[in-house]
Amino acid sequence: MVKTIEWVDGKVRMLDQTLLPREVKYIDCTDYGMVAEAIKKLRIRGAPAIGIAAAMGIALGAQEIRANDFTGFLNELETVFNTLLATRPTAVNIQWAVERIRKFLLERKAEPVDKLKALLIEEGNKVLQEDIEINRAIGKWGARFIREGDTVITHCNAGSLATGGYGTATGPIRVAVEQGKNIQVIADETRPVLQGCRLTAWELMQDNIPVTLITDNTAGALLRKGEINLAIVGTDRTVANGDVANKIGTYSLAVLCRENNVPFYVAAPLSSIDFSIPTGELIPIEERGSEEVTHIFDCNIAPEGVKVRNLAFDVTPAKYITGIITEKGVFRPEDLHKLNEKGVDLDKFMLKANNEDRH
Ligand code: MRU
Repeated sequence: MVKTIEWVDGKVRMLDQTLLPREVKYIDCTDYGMVAEAIKKLRIRGAPAIGIAAAMGIALGAQEIRANDFTGFLNELETVFNTLLATRPTAVNIQWAVERIRKFLLERKAEPVDKLKALLIEEGNKVLQEDIEINRAIGKWGARFIREGDTVITHCNAGSLATGGYGTATGPIRVAVEQGKNIQVIADETRPVLQGCRLTAWELMQDNIPVTLITDNTAGALLRKGEINLAIVGTDRTVANGDVANKIGTYSLAVLCRENNVPFYVAAPLSSIDFSIPTGELIPIEERGSEEVTHIFDCNIAPEGVKVRNLAFDVTPAKYITGIITEKGVFRPEDLHKLNEKGVDLDKFMLKANNEDRH
């Protein structure tokens, strides 16, 4: 499995995903500004991966701080937090990482600044390792819903490259394959940036998982023909009522799945669930530059000067979602909030992989 990001010799090393699949090249970020720039330019992308990059970027930023008292140190770190938070608005994982690190530091106020700097490096590595374990747990829960002979459609890239490793939406697929199930994956190409084509298809092929690439507008025809049994996608931010923001085109796929009676699942680590937002309309949606639509790599394919809208994400209402696969189990979107309540017996609300629950 390809490595997305790691901390190496005081630097954050990441695979430059803008070059894939033509070139496999790692870049070393030597300061937090480079990490922020890499997130903005999509060199690293995918909600969990940018959360990890943010945690490691904070550790890098911390090393440059001169203040040697806690208050001065945290004040200077706020600039690092804000720079990272300003990169991409939709995925909640950057905010999640900043809040985790701020809390981590506030609980260690009495420690000398030099020790805190070392601890932040450890914490960045911990965020990475935990993410891989979480994806394996998502894989284990989700694989129960994949049956021998199934064809699973996915949108965008919610694989190893979008995470610390293993993937969220690809977690159940990987576990099903490890269990010896004979399954197929359909990858939507995912215009405009083509994450499905350039990243998902590529990474599954690296691991010999059978994958077929389609254009986004082919999904409806294959669903109607009965050639797809299940959809599993990732998420950038899932909110309290179970509405899901994910890569543009996810909503259309979910509606098509409902129309064709195909179950639609979302793989969502708790780090991408934002219980502070009640409904999907309140999720900030990133709009990106027009060149992502008018160009493919360096080639202009659109009329000069054409007006463009480039929404990077859309919101799929909870009513189209069969189940949300988390590291704690699989839940109906309307039961998701139970994960945020104390003393709830989660077993009572978990979906079982029987015929009734699968749809
Ligand atoms: O713009 P991107 O490539 O960062 O968008 C990524 C997605 O929409 C993924 O599906 C999402 O982050 C889930 S990743 C496990």
